[in-house]
Amino acid sequence: MGNDLIQIGNAPPQGGSGVEVSATVEFALAPALAFEGMTFYIETFGCQMNVHDSEKVAGVLMARGYRPVDSHQEADIILYNTCSIREKAAQKVFSRLGAFRKARSTERKIIGVLGCVAQQEGERFFERAPQVSLVCGSASYTQLPDLLAQLECGNRRVKGLNLDTEDCFETEFTRRDNRFRAYLTIIEGCDQRCAFCVVPMTRGPERSRSGARIIAECRRLVDAGYTEIQILGQIVNAWRDPTLARWSFAELLSRVAEVPGVRRVRFTTSHPRYFTPDIVEAIDSHPVLCDQIHLPVQAGSSEVLARMLRGYSREEYLEKIYCIRKAQRAISLSTDIIVGFCGESEKDFEQTVSLLAEVEYDQVFSFKFSPRPNTAAREFVDTVSEEEKSRRLAVLQEVQRQIQLRRNQALAGQTFEVLVEGYQPRLGQAVGRTTSNRVLNFPGEPADIGCYRQVKVTSAGPNSLVGKKAVTSDK
Ligand code: SAH
Ligand code: F3S
Repeated sequence: MGNDLIQIGNAPPQGGSGVEVSATVEFALAPALAFEGMTFYIETFGCQMNVHDSEKVAGVLMARGYRPVDSHQEADIILYNTCSIREKAAQKVFSRLGAFRKARSTERKIIGVLGCVAQQEGERFFERAPQVSLVCGSASYTQLPDLLAQLECGNRRVKGLNLDTEDCFETEFTRRDNRFRAYLTIIEGCDQRCAFCVVPMTRGPERSRSGARIIAECRRLVDAGYTEIQILGQIVNAWRDPTLARWSFAELLSRVAEVPGVRRVRFTTSHPRYFTPDIVEAIDSHPVLCDQIHLPVQAGSSEVLARMLRGYSREEYLEKIYCIRKAQRAISLSTDIIVGFCGESEKDFEQTVSLLAEVEYDQVFSFKFSPRPNTAAREFVDTVSEEEKSRRLAVLQEVQRQIQLRRNQALAGQTFEVLVEGYQPRLGQAVGRTTSNRVLNFPGEPADIGCYRQVKVTSAGPNSLVGKKAVTSDK
């Protein structure tokens, strides 16, 4: 999904204890540092899972006495949680590090690289950017307390790069950034190996958390005041309860929805191959499960899908869509699309455009194919020129813009419950989100933030709705 840059601000940790395991240590150059009272800043690139990983990393640091600050200038330790899904995203960390090389003021700072680029580049970071002291991929985050202990002892280069793990990164210290929606990871890694995707190489094998632990975390989230839970996984519906309880993914969704105090549950990202009718049945029978499904298709041509190793054809994907469209509730649909994959002909591309017209998604995240290291597609010829990729992307986005405009305008006159996530003082507008994940702006006040409001749609654009408060509603 979207590739927004998110910076972690200040929020209190939520108590508990961390996990400690062994780590690899390289050098012992400097004397022990007094880390107590040291400050940190984390900059996060990429997906929601990265955002949530950073929330957990921040919690681990705060539990050790580190204090979060709002800028890298103020921080003693700077961490970059990186994304390598496309070349452009991966480059960002190198431009940040390049800027630091020039700034003398950063000489005494500790710089760490986390996430997918850390895993991909590994120890090469220490050569490419000698100011980097910590390199750690997400599959090694359970080692973080120990890696930090090594840094505290004065070791200058520590790494956690093991991919061969059965552990999930669980910590009760998570310092959540969003006050209303809590992310909750249920499965890490991915075994799917789509031909274009670097995730299986950077996040390691699939590991599911137990259903009981997930429910326990939901209860803690409700106690901490959260009413919306967003369940996360790179391939979220491949989740299988590793314990003898053996809940299916749909059962887990139902149980999360039944936790007292939970008002909204979303989940992302579903893979079409594991998308079963019982997920739709669960949404139909639990109003707490949001009427929204993100089901990445990637391409509309079965030939391209086969080369992408997606494990379904256009027709099989459309069967899943019909199953969703047959639900009693009107479920909003979104997808991811890659244009210009190796060998994608004009005819293939037209099939993607026709799929958009057939499905009528409410939102589409579209990308130009970007060849990635160690993926199967690296062996294929990248046949579509950059210019042509850009053209196809623009065509696709314009088609989708029209679809979204039409679909959103059809909602005029209807009233929706929104959770208010923000307020724009300049416009006097509150920013809410419907259960179907649409942004709905309306004249409001700062006190609306965090509240559920009933809002009637008065007009619509392709990306958001405009409305006015319908009735005064509860918190
Ligand atoms: N299951 C994951 C997918 C992660 S990647 C999830 O949580 O969304 C997100 C999207 O990025 C993919 O669905 C795909 O559309 C796009 N993507 C992945 N690899 C890509 C590449 N090499 N070039 C362009 N887009 C890519
Ligand atoms: Fe990537 Fe495919 Fe897994 S897109 S995250 S390899 S399902």
